[in-house]
Amino acid sequence: MLAEARILLRLHRSGLPVPALLDADVDEDRLVLEHVDGRPLIEVLRDTAVTDVEPLLHAVGRAVRHLHAQAVTHGDLSTNNIMIRDNGSVVLIDFGLASIEYDLERYGIDLHVLDEVLGASHPDRPGAMAALEAGYLDSEHAGEAEAPGGMVPSAADVLGRLSQVRSRVRYHG
Ligand SMILES: Nc1ncnc2c1ncn2[C@@H]1O[C@H](COP(=O)(O)OP(=O)(O)OP(=O)(O)O)[C@@H](O)[C@H]1O
Ligand SMILES: [Mg+2]
Repeated sequence: MLAEARILLRLHRSGLPVPALLDADVDEDRLVLEHVDGRPLIEVLRDTAVTDVEPLLHAVGRAVRHLHAQAVTHGDLSTNNIMIRDNGSVVLIDFGLASIEYDLERYGIDLHVLDEVLGASHPDRPGAMAALEAGYLDSEHAGEAEAPGGMVPSAADVLGRLSQVRSRVRYHG
């Protein structure tokens, strides 16, 4: 819980759209967060009234890259853990499995989880992952970034690792 609180503070300070941390109660095992007015991406993608999701997924890709550029991997990037505010902006939540990382593999795995979730839960949104990847690569944070513990791999390197992870999974079943 303290690790989650620490990461939330670090991300908030870096300008990333995460809920503000209002209180942390160690005795009660409780974090109090700002309430995000919106709905999880899983609901938005299931809403047949929402037709053009490409710009939204592009924005999700940019947000994930912004996260990665802070040397943070999420660890559980499902469409339940990405909130879309009523104004359309992206907020990342649930940093219970997040950690500070410099190893390319963990970055690739973050994207691979999204790839699998989008394929499995949203098969009717075929271009979803491609739009997300394009946003990841177009992010202002796409380059290799320096963080206190080392260098964060570039967006291009992470996407390269994602395709390696994909083919490994295909090969081994
Ligand atoms: N700050 C928030 N504002 C609005 N809704 C939220 C917020 N945080 C979480 N939610 C809603 O609650 C759901 C569960 O929250 P979260 O993902 O943090 O918990 P969890 O998946 O149960 O966590 P864990 O597995 O780490 O215990 C989210 O999918 C989202 O719908
Ligand atoms: Mg969750």
